[in-house]
Amino acid sequence: MLDTRISRRAAMLGAGAVAAWLASPARALLQAVGKVTVPAFVDDLIRRMTLEEKAGQLSLMASAWGGGAALGLNPPGNGSDFQQQVNEARQGLLTGVFNGNGARMAQILQTAAVKESRMKIPLIFAADIIHGHRTIFPVPLAEVASFEPDLARRTAEAAAFEASGAGIDWTFSPMVDVARDQRWGRGVEGGGEDPYLGSLFAAARVRGFQGADLKSNEHLLSCIKHFAAYGAAESGLDYNVVDISDRRLREVYLRTYKAGFDAGALSAMASFNEINGVPSTGNHWLMTDLLRREWSFQGFVVSDYTGDEEMIAGGFAKDGRDAARLAFLAGVDMSMQSGLYRQHLPSLVRSGEVPQAKLDESVRRVLALKAMLGLFDNPFRRIDVKRETARSMLPQTRALAREAGRKAIVLLKNEGELLPLPRSGKRIALIGPFAAGPHDLVGPWVVYGDDAKAVDLATGIRGALADKSALIVVQGSGVEEPLAGGIDQAIAAARQADVVILAIGEGANMSGEAQSRTEIIVPPPQQQLAEAVAATGKPVVVVLKHGRALALEGAIANAQAILATWFLGTETGDAIADVLFGAHSPSGRLPASFPLRSGQEPYYYAHKPTGRPNPPGELQPYKAHFRGIPNAALYPFGHGLTYGRIEYSGLRLSAPTLPMNGTIEVAATITNRGSRAAEEVAQLYIHDRVASITQPVRELKAFRKIALAPGQSEIVRFTLRPSDLAFIGPNGRWITEPGTFDVWVAPSAESDGVHGSFDLVA
Ligand code: BGC
Repeated sequence: MLDTRISRRAAMLGAGAVAAWLASPARALLQAVGKVTVPAFVDDLIRRMTLEEKAGQLSLMASAWGGGAALGLNPPGNGSDFQQQVNEARQGLLTGVFNGNGARMAQILQTAAVKESRMKIPLIFAADIIHGHRTIFPVPLAEVASFEPDLARRTAEAAAFEASGAGIDWTFSPMVDVARDQRWGRGVEGGGEDPYLGSLFAAARVRGFQGADLKSNEHLLSCIKHFAAYGAAESGLDYNVVDISDRRLREVYLRTYKAGFDAGALSAMASFNEINGVPSTGNHWLMTDLLRREWSFQGFVVSDYTGDEEMIAGGFAKDGRDAARLAFLAGVDMSMQSGLYRQHLPSLVRSGEVPQAKLDESVRRVLALKAMLGLFDNPFRRIDVKRETARSMLPQTRALAREAGRKAIVLLKNEGELLPLPRSGKRIALIGPFAAGPHDLVGPWVVYGDDAKAVDLATGIRGALADKSALIVVQGSGVEEPLAGGIDQAIAAARQADVVILAIGEGANMSGEAQSRTEIIVPPPQQQLAEAVAATGKPVVVVLKHGRALALEGAIANAQAILATWFLGTETGDAIADVLFGAHSPSGRLPASFPLRSGQEPYYYAHKPTGRPNPPGELQPYKAHFRGIPNAALYPFGHGLTYGRIEYSGLRLSAPTLPMNGTIEVAATITNRGSRAAEEVAQLYIHDRVASITQPVRELKAFRKIALAPGQSEIVRFTLRPSDLAFIGPNGRWITEPGTFDVWVAPSAESDGVHGSFDLVA
């Protein structure tokens, strides 16, 4: 909606210029996807700003309010106090703060900026709204398991609604780094191992956060991070180097960022890692040649937390001044937390090392976005203490968290149809460190969420049971340490029960930033607990908590039923109970492959065949496999069972050939032969048999999620175009080559489903 009145504040900035802009057709076009229009008053401001004020607009700091939420999430800050920050706002040395605490804090800082600073430029307030603000949704990786991008759009929109009520304008989200090594802890924040699926979720999240009008006080500016290839860190070690071919970078890692920008994201965050010897933060090719010239990105780029300064330890910059110069000239517009830009940019411009025009260009980008967010019209549009409370944890937001939670759960295994459990008539022993209690519920990367306001598993299960006394709850073990007497109590509880639910896995602090693991297993004390419980002979349902794909072993892998439940947030217990007792038939599919062993990592389904693939069946000597372990997943990407019995049949291709200027239709029949309703995710994979550059054994190209009543059949149809079969050729450009392609419609990346082939013809 266009503003029809001009605020007092706009009048103070120069009524003529602002009024002209508000009435101009350019204003109406502002929300054209991915486009930035710079109102004329911005250039007027820039003409009147000092170099120090300009550098201030490019300097973002962690909020120092009461210690500030960010100070607990990031490495220790620079010791600034809140009063000092208010003074910086007054002096125009600050563009905004991040991870602060709510509307009251924002009110104080914004007042200092717009009433007491010389240029009266509003601050921008940022935060890591990764999977919810106060109502916490499933971790992003879990949400991808829904294979329902629109669900992610809805949760992002709901998170934006809460956060924008609490004084926040800008979220450092979505994180879209493709992660193919499960040792890396930050895969939990992203879209999984597949660039196609990850791209759909990246775009959906951007749309949810930003909405149709950035100026609305219900939406946030979104930030694509971490640009680029942060998830390709060597050996899965966080912050480690990335040494990668241009082909793989473009075919796999860059696609999700591009999808986010194409969906309209107008800010980006530079990643901590280097790529082929050059840190992203100082990488002119990445930040300027690719992002701005090739992709025509019009928003602004912020460094990651002290990312510019870290180029000194990384051996790329000799000191702070050098780091500021390198980052800025590479194309990083704004510096986060190091303070290096405000410390050095003015003198770098005075000495001629940084052109004044380039400084103005970055300031223009930042001010234009502040204008698009409506901050010049009304700097307090998202700052309202009453609205902050009124929007917090509303019943409909919690209901969405429960819906997202149950859709994120993946049924890995269900021998003898142990699940769903009956609501009455069975005694249940709920055993494990994640059985009960307000801990490890909201999961990693939560700034404002609260475990104490979340539903634990015991509460969720009790809510579903007809007879509440049918549940015995025993902790059994700590997360990484044994619990004295725990195993004995667990055995006693299991013996009294008809069925055991084992709530085990990773603690919330075992994934996320700086939490890479060498062994992606359930910690040994919990494995011992599982072995002891299994030895009682009682049927066991394993309910896993985890921020990555895990390597399951022994009694955990051998349990009759296994549910992958990740970190589901505020409605954890209710969402899991919905699936355990059949109110919801499990519909999630793995966004990351569960390998057979940790040592297979990085394991991903879309690997190359090698010249010595092991044929299906027995392991053969001198073939590509580990000692005693096939080069396959225990549960591959795309896997997930339902409470129905799903059958694939009748693959049909519309023609034996696909012409270069045509399309081909691939159809298959999916039937539910079971006695319960089910939702199936039919996945279309292709393989290019012979190409001038070897191609992965399979690649996901499309999927459909369909609901099937007992006995119901449905034909799913997909259309493939030659562009779907493109790859980066020997010349470094996207090409399509004639040849034979295998095609599968299948329930996972490593299952047969139904299979055929066609020829792409010139
Ligand atoms: C993380 C970013 C985050 C930033 C601000 C960094 O350590 O890598 O993802 O947005 O901190 O909290």
